[in-house]
Amino acid sequence: MTEDDDRIRPIGAFDIPLLAELHVAIFNAPWDRPWSAESLAQILAMPGACGWLLESERAPVGLALALFTLDEGEILLTGILPAARGRGHGTRLMRAVVAGARAAGVAKLFLEHAELNAAAARLYRRAGFVQIGRRLRYYSDPSSPATRYDAVTRMLDLSAAEPPPTAGIDRQGPK
Ligand SMILES: CC(C)(COP(=O)(O)OP(=O)(O)OC[C@H]1O[C@@H](n2cnc3c(N)ncnc32)[C@H](O)[C@@H]1OP(=O)(O)O)[C@@H](O)C(=O)NCCC(=O)NCCS
Repeated sequence: MTEDDDRIRPIGAFDIPLLAELHVAIFNAPWDRPWSAESLAQILAMPGACGWLLESERAPVGLALALFTLDEGEILLTGILPAARGRGHGTRLMRAVVAGARAAGVAKLFLEHAELNAAAARLYRRAGFVQIGRRLRYYSDPSSPATRYDAVTRMLDLSAAEPPPTAGIDRQGPK
């Protein structure tokens, strides 16, 4: 399988039942709760809501949802099915979200994740998100109400000029 077998496309309203299925299969950490089709529909109906679906070999394997409001954006979630993790899908999805944010005129992109979520921390740090805060005991565990998890908040500053795609290439050619 190669990167060419992957396709990332914008999410439409017709995808909502599929998104609910993906959500329940992907978000099963102690701090997660499944989002119903109804709540996903409500989120996608919000102004500035957008999403991307990653398909690999024509099968859906991941999703990302974000809200872009004027020059600020928030990534609500990024998820890849457990069997498809660790192959760069999350990174590819993240690139699509960041490109979408740039195209929408977003200057600052925010997100949060559980501090214990090492995969999320790595994915977002590698995408350039820097930690800007910490929310103590922010997430609860439905199966153990006394247990709480800290959250990390991060931000990606998109206002800096994007490096030109030809950076580093000698345009003058051989002398
Ligand atoms: C976070 C998540 C989307 C990453 O998806 P993925 O397809 O595995 O990501 P990639 O393969 O592109 O890997 C991204 C980076 O994370 C690292 N990584 C992947 N799984 C990891 C793990 N379990 N622990 C630590 N790092 C991990 C990879 O090594 C890679 O880093 P590198 O580029 O320096 O090598 C996926 O683990 C997931 O869906 N988790 C459950 C949902 C979730 O927690 N989402 C994030 C909060 S909304």
